[in-house]
Amino acid sequence: MPTGSLFTLGNPLGRLCIGLGLTLSSLCKVPVSATMPLSPYPRIQDGAGIRWDSVQTPLISPEHDNGLAEFDFDAPRLVRFFPSWSDSGQLVGDGSDSLLNSLSEAVWITEADKLEATRTGHGYIDITEHPEWTSASPPSYRQHTRHVYHPPNSTMVPNILPLLSSDEQKANLKTFTSFHTRFYNSDTGHASSRWLYKRILNYTNEYASESLKDAVDIELLLWKHSAFKQESVVVRLSPKSSVTDSITIVGAHCDSMNYAHPFDRSPGADDDGSGTITILEAYRGILRSGYIPSSPLEFHFYAAEEGGLLGSTDISKTYAKEGKDVRGMIEFDMTAWVKAGEPERIGVFVNLADPLLSEYLKSLIDKYLDIPWVQTRYPGKAGSDYMSWTLAGYQSCHAVEGPWGSMNPNPHTTSDRIDISPEFSFDHILRFTKLAVAFAVELSEY
Ligand SMILES: *[C@@H]1O[C@H](CO)[C@@H](O)[C@H](O)[C@H]1NC(C)=O
Ligand SMILES: *[C@@H]1O[C@H](CO)[C@@H](O)[C@H](O)[C@H]1NC(C)=O
Repeated sequence: MPTGSLFTLGNPLGRLCIGLGLTLSSLCKVPVSATMPLSPYPRIQDGAGIRWDSVQTPLISPEHDNGLAEFDFDAPRLVRFFPSWSDSGQLVGDGSDSLLNSLSEAVWITEADKLEATRTGHGYIDITEHPEWTSASPPSYRQHTRHVYHPPNSTMVPNILPLLSSDEQKANLKTFTSFHTRFYNSDTGHASSRWLYKRILNYTNEYASESLKDAVDIELLLWKHSAFKQESVVVRLSPKSSVTDSITIVGAHCDSMNYAHPFDRSPGADDDGSGTITILEAYRGILRSGYIPSSPLEFHFYAAEEGGLLGSTDISKTYAKEGKDVRGMIEFDMTAWVKAGEPERIGVFVNLADPLLSEYLKSLIDKYLDIPWVQTRYPGKAGSDYMSWTLAGYQSCHAVEGPWGSMNPNPHTTSDRIDISPEFSFDHILRFTKLAVAFAVELSEY
């Protein structure tokens, strides 16, 4: 594995820090000005300002710095960089040591360095709160049941699909993208998760039938993280008389980020507003249908994916430490874009995904959707939250808007908007929503 392929920091002290590996010394506190040519800042207004529409959240004036003053660009963080996937062959997950070993050794860098690495296409997983993940040999709790999947045969899924609505998704995404940014250390990022939580609470109150509440414990959590402001949101449907503890997880990430400056405007319509409204509408449809799962079913909205899979790392490591069994995890990260002139397809990403679950995902697409799947892979050092689950020893997979080269070019800029192009398609999002329902129901029905 190309563990030596670390990026070159713009500052010699930064390189020294990487050379020191795990040793955090005062030398490693690289001055922000040396590595982070962000200017001028603070900078928060870009014409769009902060719009709140009808959201009932604390009003933050455009003069408010949105958390910038509290954000420490010098703070040391422990990260492991993704390998250059293209160099690493068909790297897929099998829960073995080689997965963890495929990442670079753990290195201390600053928050400012993290931003620079992100900008220059060097993705990483931030394990500062999980230092046991510096170890080359996997912690013993990474031993979990390997699940196999029977061909999809639910009689319930076809009843739910007609209940899904693009109009509901449009309204939700309009509000969700109106937060100035959903950056995980910003006040608006924090407020956006609170809004999402309330939206899910409202849906639950409105649509959960009495018979569902009789049979299932419904738990809605704001999952607080010690290292940053934004919370993840988790909703759990746990059957009271479940025959198995195997959990089915449907996930997306709720943060957004502007790579030019993390406190700048970042609508994040596709990355990952689209995945968020995909699984939100899947949840609403499942509630409306009256479906009662036979095994635990959860919807996860992860904070801080853009900060190095922070939210999903906290949650997946917690599940692993508690010895929870996960039947399968699917992530939806970007589900809106259909590149002009190309056929509409569902991308199935293979890097660090479970081969068996990815094959199962393809069978769901074949059965329930009228467009084909295409297997694809991250080319560089990129990644997303499903990898946290793979690294914690669970089976996970990832469905995206198309093959890598045909994806939306606008993420991490002010242009990641709904109205940027007709290529942003709510019809495409709705197909992923059907897929989310199919995955959730097929796997939690037994
Ligand atoms: C689907 O197939 C599995 C495995 O063969 C079986 O146990 C289950 O009862 C089937 N479900 C339905 C609804 O037919
Ligand atoms: C939730 O419902 C309440 C009461 O109807 C409403 O005032 C509020 O705006 C709703 N919030 C969200 C986020 O849906």
